[in-house]
Amino acid sequence: MPERPTTTPPDLRGALDPHLFREGMSRVAGAVHIVATDGQAGRAGFTATAVAPVTDQPASLLVCINAAGRSARSVQANHAFSVNTLSAGDQAIADIFAGRAGLEGRDRFSVGSWDTLETGCPVLTTGLVAFDCRLMDSRLVATHFVIIGEIVAIRLGQAAPALVYSNRSYHAL
Ligand SMILES: Cc1cc2nc3c(=O)[nH]c(=O)nc-3n(C[C@H](O)[C@H](O)[C@H](O)COP(=O)(O)O)c2cc1C
Repeated sequence: MPERPTTTPPDLRGALDPHLFREGMSRVAGAVHIVATDGQAGRAGFTATAVAPVTDQPASLLVCINAAGRSARSVQANHAFSVNTLSAGDQAIADIFAGRAGLEGRDRFSVGSWDTLETGCPVLTTGLVAFDCRLMDSRLVATHFVIIGEIVAIRLGQAAPALVYSNRSYHAL
């Protein structure tokens, strides 16, 4: 039986090229979410694929947020956020919250239907699921905050195809 390679191939060693990282990550299909916040710093929100569950006791999840963006500052000040998983029908909302329509901050919420659960953060009524979170922990890793939210409420939404981002474009799954 041939031995399994234990070393990284030479062309992937050393300081990794950020373009190669981005190219690699473009091949990882991800669910598309809107991360939204409200509170003393006001409403803000952005499109995110860097979302993952952490544990179910306490129910928690993590999100990676670019520290240079408006939403990172607002989430830290508001100590709460929601994660809204998009259906394929809400691609236009994904573009708006990614800044592709020129809207910032609370103006992004002019599109879509929003209400609230426990924390007062905006929750999208047409999402597949909404997780309402209190900010538990936050750690700056180079350019991004890794934030961990304790989930205090969940709303299960419609059963519909999911919006997925892969190879730099949207797909319905
Ligand atoms: C499909 C997709 C996924 C994205 N995922 C993330 C993400 O996980 N984290 C992040 O910080 N930005 C992500 N972005 C970029 C932000 O949505 C975008 O920069 C947004 O305008 C930031 O808003 P803000 O200035 O209110 O923070 C993503 C963009 C797209 C189109």
